[in-house]
Amino acid sequence: MGLIANQYHVAIAIDGPAASGKSTIARMLAKKLGLVMVNSGEMYRAVTWKILEAGIDPRDVSTIVKALGDMHLDCGINGCFSTIAIDGRLLRDELRSENVNRAVSVVSAIAAVRSRLVSLQREYLQTTSLVMEGRDIGSVVFPKTPYKIYVDASADVRAARRLAEGVTDSVVSRDQADSSRETAPLIVADGAVVLDNSHHTVDSAVEAALVILRGQGLRWSE
Ligand code: DC
Repeated sequence: MGLIANQYHVAIAIDGPAASGKSTIARMLAKKLGLVMVNSGEMYRAVTWKILEAGIDPRDVSTIVKALGDMHLDCGINGCFSTIAIDGRLLRDELRSENVNRAVSVVSAIAAVRSRLVSLQREYLQTTSLVMEGRDIGSVVFPKTPYKIYVDASADVRAARRLAEGVTDSVVSRDQADSSRETAPLIVADGAVVLDNSHHTVDSAVEAALVILRGQGLRWSE
């Protein structure tokens, strides 16, 4: 499959709360449509990891803003996935640690962190068409894209998913923080269609997402 030729790069925005299944849907969509999948949460996780590694308190905004100025963030693409390195270190499994899970909502609420990362997220579109998943992709990062899905699932289903992954992650309190922060809170963006992923299989969720995108005007060749 591939997008039908378009003069401009296309952004598909997939937003939603933690453990709603948006990463899986975004990855499968990217694969089916031949696009790059960019995981914006990993960028917030990477900055959080670096702050913790430097021994900085995640609530110490002024020290974090100063440290951010000295951080070299390298956002790249490997095959059809985004990558992130900080100060030359490529980050992968450490992004999912329990310490990062606990601190990431606090760090990602800082306006200076968001503006630095939003700029880097927008830069991807200079290079490629993409599926980007996160919390504010349809509302802030690419508000003009017509292709927006908000993936939701019940709190019980989301908590059970994390448990099955063997990860300690209090998704409810993280969502509360992500939805109530002042800068770029998690919302259903203007024009986004909600996909309730509480009871879908992966395949049926991807089919439902493709139906939504077709309704929003996206065209691709099978
Ligand atoms: O998608 P995730 O659960 O890996 O994201 C981790 C955290 O990063 C999430 O709790 C809030 C923050 N985040 C954000 O504020 N904005 C985004 N676009 C993506 C993630």
